[in-house]
Amino acid sequence: MSDSEKKTVLTAAQPSGILTIGNYLGAIRHWTSMLDDNDCLFPIVNMHAITVPYTPADLRLRTRSLVAQYIACGLDPEKCTIFIQSHVVGHADLAWVLGCLTPLGELQRMTQFKDKTAKGAPLNSGLLFYPVLMAADILLYNADIVPVGEDQKQHLELARNIAERFNSTYSETFKIPEPQIATTGARILSLQDPNRKMSKSDENQGAYLLLTDEPDQIRKKISRAVTDSGSEVKSGPDKAGVTNLLSIMSGFSGKSVEEHEAEFVGKGYGDFKKAVGEVVVEGLRPIRERFEEIIEDKAYLDEVLKSGADIAQRKAYKMLSKVHRKVGFVERFR
Ligand code: TYM
Repeated sequence: MSDSEKKTVLTAAQPSGILTIGNYLGAIRHWTSMLDDNDCLFPIVNMHAITVPYTPADLRLRTRSLVAQYIACGLDPEKCTIFIQSHVVGHADLAWVLGCLTPLGELQRMTQFKDKTAKGAPLNSGLLFYPVLMAADILLYNADIVPVGEDQKQHLELARNIAERFNSTYSETFKIPEPQIATTGARILSLQDPNRKMSKSDENQGAYLLLTDEPDQIRKKISRAVTDSGSEVKSGPDKAGVTNLLSIMSGFSGKSVEEHEAEFVGKGYGDFKKAVGEVVVEGLRPIRERFEEIIEDKAYLDEVLKSGADIAQRKAYKMLSKVHRKVGFVERFR
């Protein structure tokens, strides 16, 4: 496919430490299958990460670690653009312009913001503005497709509304980005409470599996995963725990949930969990090993990030100048 026929794919993750298998199965695994036919951009959104309490030295380490995790998961930097959001001038600038077009009520309605408000912790205004910065990440590169997990759907809807509003206020500028929600793995659930999404912010470490968990940790966490009443290995609305384990298994094995159900007819949860454990151990092994190599190679990581930022910056400047012209900012003197 020629470069001009390629669609622009953009998606991102926050550098919040080692990724969970939820991030992998719901997101990154699908991104790797898009590299050959699309122009793919993967910013690491460190500016989003400072909307919640954090330690600066940690953030720096986590940002580099996420680059290594991306590459270890198969995002080949020869085939896509990996960069750090704060390295590119334009994300915050465009967010400001878009924010001035976004009614406050639309941001206050965002579920993730409401969830955080409900927890009662003191909030900064960056958290409210978060989805506007996310819209800027997408629109700055005029992305056609944004592959995300289920939990980002509402933010994507907002980004589309913002793009439409900009176009109707100032004239056609942005493409309206299409969300692409994975059909498998879009919502991997907590191993301890299958009514909640798997998340690293869970206080219970047994609730999630990390990409770098050691084989024994993986086996232990899966053997302790909450299952449902009954003993049949079958997915269904009243079997959230088993359904979740089946989708994890299918995500790593590449086989369908039905095929796995068939393998366990007449067998109990014990056998099933052992098998899930082994499939996850084998699925994560190459990722963990590759990650350990890459994270040590500082020069390689620097090179990936430098070249990624150069490519992204060229694209970002073009769009930012266009936006500045449309909104009536006087052009910069060169
Ligand atoms: P983040 O960092 O929370 O998650 C990164 C990606 O992983 C998906 N994901 C999951 N999928 C399935 N099951 C789970 N348990 C699970 N947990 C996370 C997320 O849906 C996401 O696709 N706001 C975004 C980052 C962002 C962004 C963007 C995304 C900033 N700018 C522009 C797309 C485009 C976030 O916090 O993702």
